[in-house]
Amino acid sequence: MDTEPPLGRPGTAMPPLDRTDLHPSVDDPVLTSMTTLNDIAGRFPDALSFAAGRPYEAFYDAESLPRWLRRFQRHLEQDQHRTPAEINRTLFQYGRTKGFIHHLIARQLEQDEHITVDPEAVLVTTGCQEAMVLALRALRRGPQDVVLAALPAYVGFLGAARLVDLPVHGVREDADGIDPDDLVTRVRLLRARGLRPRACYIVPDFANPSGATLPEERRRRLLEIADREDLLLLEDNPYAFFGADGDRRPTLKSLDRSRRVLHFGSFAKTAFAGSRVGYVVADQPMSDGTLLADELAKLKSMLTLNTSTVSQAVIGGYLLEHGCSLVRATERERAVYRRNLTAVLDGLEQRFGDDPTVTWTTPRGGMFTVLTVPFTADEETLEHSARAFGVLWTPMHHFYGGRGGHQQLRLSFSVLDPDRIATGLDRLAALVAERKEKLRAQGGAGSTPVRVRGALTRTPGIGALEETARMTA
Ligand SMILES: Cc1ncc(COP(=O)(O)O)c(C=O)c1O
Repeated sequence: MDTEPPLGRPGTAMPPLDRTDLHPSVDDPVLTSMTTLNDIAGRFPDALSFAAGRPYEAFYDAESLPRWLRRFQRHLEQDQHRTPAEINRTLFQYGRTKGFIHHLIARQLEQDEHITVDPEAVLVTTGCQEAMVLALRALRRGPQDVVLAALPAYVGFLGAARLVDLPVHGVREDADGIDPDDLVTRVRLLRARGLRPRACYIVPDFANPSGATLPEERRRRLLEIADREDLLLLEDNPYAFFGADGDRRPTLKSLDRSRRVLHFGSFAKTAFAGSRVGYVVADQPMSDGTLLADELAKLKSMLTLNTSTVSQAVIGGYLLEHGCSLVRATERERAVYRRNLTAVLDGLEQRFGDDPTVTWTTPRGGMFTVLTVPFTADEETLEHSARAFGVLWTPMHHFYGGRGGHQQLRLSFSVLDPDRIATGLDRLAALVAERKEKLRAQGGAGSTPVRVRGALTRTPGIGALEETARMTA
């Protein structure tokens, strides 16, 4: 007689699912980190937040959306001579997988970045995030494939790699961004272990989270290394337009003579994040004469089919309204971020300038700075910070995949104004004073961080970079 229990009975509630039966990424700290942080932020809605990496909001105007849509419609009518039926189809129907604003993006890249690309090499995606997932998916042929990234790295990239089972290996970063010598060392070590390093992820300007910017000479070296070591460079540059000095450095793609660079773009920080429009330039030739962009489009056709037609049209109109120049389009935002960066750096100097146990990075633009403190800056400290002092920030260990940055916190200042920045820094200074007093009372002054102004400082005894250099997803 069969004694096996029945697997299920019709009409009975399904037993709860076990997370361990799902893809490991659902349980990965990299992917759950944002939920945890949002949960803490949600419980302290009145706390002043240096946590959200959102763009400045005061310039948003709902009226601009129909205006941009109409501008794009006019473009279809007058520049592309489309009939009303064709225009309706473009806006209402399923669309071309590679998108329909690729020609405007190519124009913008030419104008702002001196990047000359065939519009066919531009794949319009649902945010830069989708572009990263597609590229990483394509680069994982088998278990020997790995990618590299300067650590600390953008959580969106670490999470995307996790989603497609592609291990990420850390490369050292200093005040000038990724260390090219360490990249070569890591690539060779990985090869010696039988692994295949495919690409290295780089945010060249005002990186999230460190704020570091690569000098031009390092950019050129990275391209040489990519050639010599047979690597692709994954260039992600959403903050490029927000330099405090107004100077622009050449993108890796504009210096790329051998098509080593996949250039990722996002309209989240320039136009608006809710559009969820991004893109990747993938002009690498395939052996059968097509482009890598076409291969990525095949993957996209099974993920989102096409990027929202309405969103593309709105972003298309935004580009057209500014003559396809994001430098021109972002003048007001640039001024706000410059003002806020100055307020944060001056404010940190005023409050911690005489304290050798607290250091911070000094970015030349963007939205982030990283503070190193003599105590553990984890979720528990964050919750205490919110409850007792009314200030939120982001623990840095998330950007190291949980294996470093334990005494560091990221301050994001994009949505604030100088008054709120001053209030927030006062609250932060009170937290630091309290934590230091606690350490003193416990008999240890805490470890003393190395003071390297402008660099991502390291705390003796943590060995974050060494540890994370071995990080695999
Ligand atoms: C480094 C980096 N890349 C990309 C993005 C934006 O991506 P998306 O276009 O998907 O919003 C962000 C946003 O925070 C970022 O920090």
